[in-house]
Amino acid sequence: MTATRGLEGVVATTSSISSIIDDVLTYAGYNIDDLADHASFEEVVYLLWHGKLPNQSELDELTKQLAENATLPQGVLDHFTTYPIDSVHPMGALRTAVSLLGLYDEEADVMDDASNYRKAISLQAKLPTIVAAFSRIRKGLEPVAPRTDLSFSANFVYMLTGQEPDAIAIEALNKALVLHADHELNASTFTARVCVATLSDVYSGVTSAIGALKGPLHGGANEQVMKMLSEIGEVSNVEAYITEKFNNKDKIMGFGHRVYQNGDPRAKHLKKMSKELTTLTGEPKWYEMSVKIEEMVTGQKGIPANVDFYSASMYHSLGIDHDLFTPIFAVSRVSGWLAHILEQYQNNRIIRPRAEYTGPGKQTFVPIDQRA
Ligand code: ACO
Repeated sequence: MTATRGLEGVVATTSSISSIIDDVLTYAGYNIDDLADHASFEEVVYLLWHGKLPNQSELDELTKQLAENATLPQGVLDHFTTYPIDSVHPMGALRTAVSLLGLYDEEADVMDDASNYRKAISLQAKLPTIVAAFSRIRKGLEPVAPRTDLSFSANFVYMLTGQEPDAIAIEALNKALVLHADHELNASTFTARVCVATLSDVYSGVTSAIGALKGPLHGGANEQVMKMLSEIGEVSNVEAYITEKFNNKDKIMGFGHRVYQNGDPRAKHLKKMSKELTTLTGEPKWYEMSVKIEEMVTGQKGIPANVDFYSASMYHSLGIDHDLFTPIFAVSRVSGWLAHILEQYQNNRIIRPRAEYTGPGKQTFVPIDQRA
């Protein structure tokens, strides 16, 4: 048995949800470029869960269900107030809140299709409420209850800010959510599938996935990109900063990808939005710094920007706290996780690979009083 480091090139499952072929990302056959330009996030959720775009009444029904399920149990809100607020990362709070939600669902371990679909609706609906409520509670603000008359993106912005969201913010967020919704067998989705392939429940699958997304090599990279931009501060500092990173052989966050040869097709949409929004807010330096970094990293090392690179300056321009960037990723990606969880249940076999053993050879047991 020979191990494949990082499972590179290993095809671990079949799936009809999304595909990456020759650097083209599609959700159920629809090119991500078309969806980013034309689809609402709710339509994409429906597409991922049903394998087809909804007609108007199907979309209305899903939108209604999401709006009606967005309210959190009071116990989850109360739980936030008990955290050591200064040290808790919102991804940790989100992971714990999703696990906690499972305790409030009497059907958490009921495994029929209808019950699992209901849980999917509930989790998709509640993730933005969790992120927004935690964000406000840690600042000493009252959480804002979800509204039933707003779109998914508008409601999220409303719950975060407590104010009527403007059209630009809603459109930008909707596009970002569409672009992050699914990505074949990425690390967090694989984690979710491994978890539920034991026939564990939907809440456990999503909780595990959030844990995997949190890492800086995966979804956590967008926050790290903003940290880097903040450290650099000005366009004139980019060259020295990145040269030092090159010299130290440090990874530059927001660059590289396991499955793309010539670049991440999502990045160009986020780059465009970053340009527009940073100009609009009068802080084009975040975009200009990003472009200069890209010129150096892609130009000199041949490593293209990924989805996390331009999303950082884009979210910053929307006034979103930097440590909420990855939770927003989760608000979108939970749609993909749930699609994969439901698909895994449909044709399940436990996922149990092997390890190539590299430890000591045969040992003789020595009683503890005779050991050195
Ligand atoms: N900066 C500098 N060098 C890099 C980068 C980077 N961001 N990414 C890859 N490389 C180099 C590696 O150092 C390695 O070089 P070597 O062969 O000389 O040792 C080579 O490219 C291959 O890189 P690996 O890390 O082995 O590639 P892998 O496929 O295992 O990892 C990953 C992919 C994790 C995305 C990697 O490119 C990385 O760490 N990027 C930075 C973190 C990041 O942006 N993550 C978000 C990815 S998108 C997402 O998950 C949502």
